[in-house]
Amino acid sequence: MISLASVALVISSGALLSNAACSATISSLDDVANAVKCTSITLNGFTVPAGQGLSLSLASGTTVTMNGDISFGNKSWDGPLFTISGTGITFNGNGHKFDGGGPFYWDGQGINGGTTKPDPMMKVKMSGTFENVKVVNSPGRVFSVGNSAPLLLTGLTIDNSQGDQPNSKSGGQAAGHNTDGFDVSANDVTIQNSNIHNQDDCLAINKGTNIVFKGNSCTGGHGISIGSIDSSVTVSGVVISGNTITNNDQALRIKTKSSASGSTVKNVTYSGNTATGIRKFGILIDESYPSTLGTPGTGVIISDINFVSPTTSISVVSGAERVAVNCGKNACTGTWNWSNLKVSGGSAGPITNFNGISGFSQ
Ligand SMILES: *[C@@H]1O[C@H](CO)[C@@H](O)[C@H](O)[C@H]1NC(C)=O
Ligand SMILES: *[C@@H]1O[C@H](CO)[C@@H](O)[C@H](O)[C@H]1NC(C)=O
Ligand SMILES: *[C@@H]1O[C@H](CO)[C@@H](O)[C@H](O)[C@H]1NC(C)=O
Repeated sequence: MISLASVALVISSGALLSNAACSATISSLDDVANAVKCTSITLNGFTVPAGQGLSLSLASGTTVTMNGDISFGNKSWDGPLFTISGTGITFNGNGHKFDGGGPFYWDGQGINGGTTKPDPMMKVKMSGTFENVKVVNSPGRVFSVGNSAPLLLTGLTIDNSQGDQPNSKSGGQAAGHNTDGFDVSANDVTIQNSNIHNQDDCLAINKGTNIVFKGNSCTGGHGISIGSIDSSVTVSGVVISGNTITNNDQALRIKTKSSASGSTVKNVTYSGNTATGIRKFGILIDESYPSTLGTPGTGVIISDINFVSPTTSISVVSGAERVAVNCGKNACTGTWNWSNLKVSGGSAGPITNFNGISGFSQ
């Protein structure tokens, strides 16, 4: 006969085993399955075999600490190279890096042509804190963020600067292409104090609520972007503040697909951003994507886009346009307070189908 007390003992020791405060070390893919049963994990440096990803599906409350650099064998496949999921996770890179081996893949065509590239490189589906990680040479897009509870990404470095140069396969174009820094489709995300050097959007918000992007520096890419917005999505409660944007195509952009319907972009607040050397548009709000300043769609309603103190200051190169706004008829609504925006250089751009901008003229 088994007593009730001994059954309870078995159950509780089982729970202890699967939920244990044990420590584990990962030094190869072979270690992962057992290590993820522990809530304290050290991630040593190693090379992940070609054609495989490192995927950490973690118990709630796990802390992972990097103790070396992770690189990936070279092979043309879909990726992702790294995936992390779990709730209340702390991932500390300790300044170590993930090396995506970009030069092996880069051909100037990004993710829409040429060789198949692992994309995205880093898939973050956790909540908690992901910090102090360096990512170099992503084959395509870098971070895809799709958490389901609050997530802080802080102190990250994305260095794809090597992709600025052409290579033997890129026909004179920059070899790196479509190397978005952060693609966000999630609620309650803060990305802060990070440095991004790439060849596409520094940040692209595709959907979500309560998204903060602050104190980051964006170099060489296409700027800080909401979109491209597709059908049936909402973006709201976005704060873009204190970022430094250097030598990008745009500083700040909202782009919506001309074919999109049933979507909303609202309550976006910009403050204290500084942009210099902007090559195409200081501010571009355009409802005609994939065209630029083409025939705008009317299926995405944009409202409440404001520049608050401290002033956002943007300087564009000669030949660039300061501000261009291309709305579908009645698709941009309300009054937008732009009294804390200054844009210099270049020439004035067109403002189409909207007269609700207050406190700013170009
Ligand atoms: C992948 O290829 C790149 C460039 O060709 C090279 O720098 C890197 O060392 C290679 N990675 C591995 C793990 O062999
Ligand atoms: C706008 O977004 C901010 C930041 O997420 C939020 O605090 C504020 O409540 C929102 N305002 C409205 C009217 O929803
Ligand atoms: C815009 O904001 C400024 C500064 O925050 C304020 O002084 C001004 O009254 C606002 N304008 C409108 C039309 O709300």
